[in-house]
Amino acid sequence: MQKRRLGNSNLEVSALGLGCMGMSFGYGPAMDKQEAIALLRTAVERGVTFFDTAEVYGPYTNEELVGEGLAPFRGQVVIATKFGFDLDPKLDPRGMKGSPGLNSRPEHIKQVAEGSLKRLRIEVIDLFYQHRVDPDVPIEDVAGAVKELIQEGKVKHFGLSEAGVQTIRRAHAVQPVTALQSEYSLWTREPEAEVLPTLEELGIGFVPFSPLGKGFLTGKIDENTKLESTDFRSTVPRFAPEARKANLALVDLLGRIAAWKQATPAQIALAWLLAQKPWIVPIPGTTKLHRLEENLGAAAVDLTLDDLGEIESAASQITVQGARYPEHLEKMTGR
Ligand SMILES: NC(=O)c1ccc[n+]([C@@H]2O[C@H](COP(=O)([O-])OP(=O)(O)OC[C@H]3O[C@@H](n4cnc5c(N)ncnc54)[C@H](OP(=O)(O)O)[C@@H]3O)[C@@H](O)[C@H]2O)c1
Repeated sequence: MQKRRLGNSNLEVSALGLGCMGMSFGYGPAMDKQEAIALLRTAVERGVTFFDTAEVYGPYTNEELVGEGLAPFRGQVVIATKFGFDLDPKLDPRGMKGSPGLNSRPEHIKQVAEGSLKRLRIEVIDLFYQHRVDPDVPIEDVAGAVKELIQEGKVKHFGLSEAGVQTIRRAHAVQPVTALQSEYSLWTREPEAEVLPTLEELGIGFVPFSPLGKGFLTGKIDENTKLESTDFRSTVPRFAPEARKANLALVDLLGRIAAWKQATPAQIALAWLLAQKPWIVPIPGTTKLHRLEENLGAAAVDLTLDDLGEIESAASQITVQGARYPEHLEKMTGR
């Protein structure tokens, strides 16, 4: 698979990474561990060199899984993880239903780094993102803590997730930011207004999460699909049945383009992201080998300017229904 460089950094990764969250957390029961390990190893064989996890996924178990699965490839793959939640057991540890505590205090960041290094079985974290901006801790202090971890050789690159442009600039002035990870896809285009131009100006790479719209843009979900209560999407306004019904217009568009490109809707959704900027690296997640292969096939789908124009004009006629997060989680974004 082709490689991409995240912004002006020297961090080079496969054009498509693998989001590992859903293997343990978020979309229902965790995968069988041996199957998940086999999937991770097959991804490496297929050319994936960029893997995404976080302390909060599980919590902890997704990092452990990624650490075990990728142990034979230490030094050959890039593992990104994230800090920034307070995983006090008194709070809902999944950070999804109750009120998850944020904690980006410098001493906490250092503790998380030690734990992540152990769980991931590595000596240095390739890319360490702040998962959400913590309004109680100045971003300069966060960037300063990560800078110290870099100086100590425990972290290589600093990242932010769902941060607003002022925060990005302030952080970058203290410790250069290698990548921003935020939601971006054909149904979540907010980063285009301010965030992407700022990243381009500063030479920061962009890692779109939920690039398949949490599965919706693949066409495998419609208004009749049952989402279990353990599935995070059952709490997301955009996944309410009536919103799904309206949002299928976007899936129809992807299906039309896919038919004439001899590709699948998921591949078009990913190829569209890859076509936006050469420093964008999406991280689709899956628990299934055939879907991993399908998604990686997107790197070979070449959308022409005409194709992109067609997608743009059709998408501009569609208004996406429903917020991308429940209110208490939405307010943690864009700060
Ligand atoms: N920074 C953050 O705050 C943040 C937030 C969310 C996610 N993330 C990261 O981003 C990664 C990806 O995001 P995501 O998992 O939320 O969403 P996503 O990649 O947009 O979609 C994943 C969903 O799509 C399904 N899927 C994948 N490929 C498919 C295909 N070809 N056809 C049909 N269905 C397909 C998967 O189900 P199956 O497993 O059944 O294939 C899964 O339910 C995560 O793993 C995580 O590492 C970060």
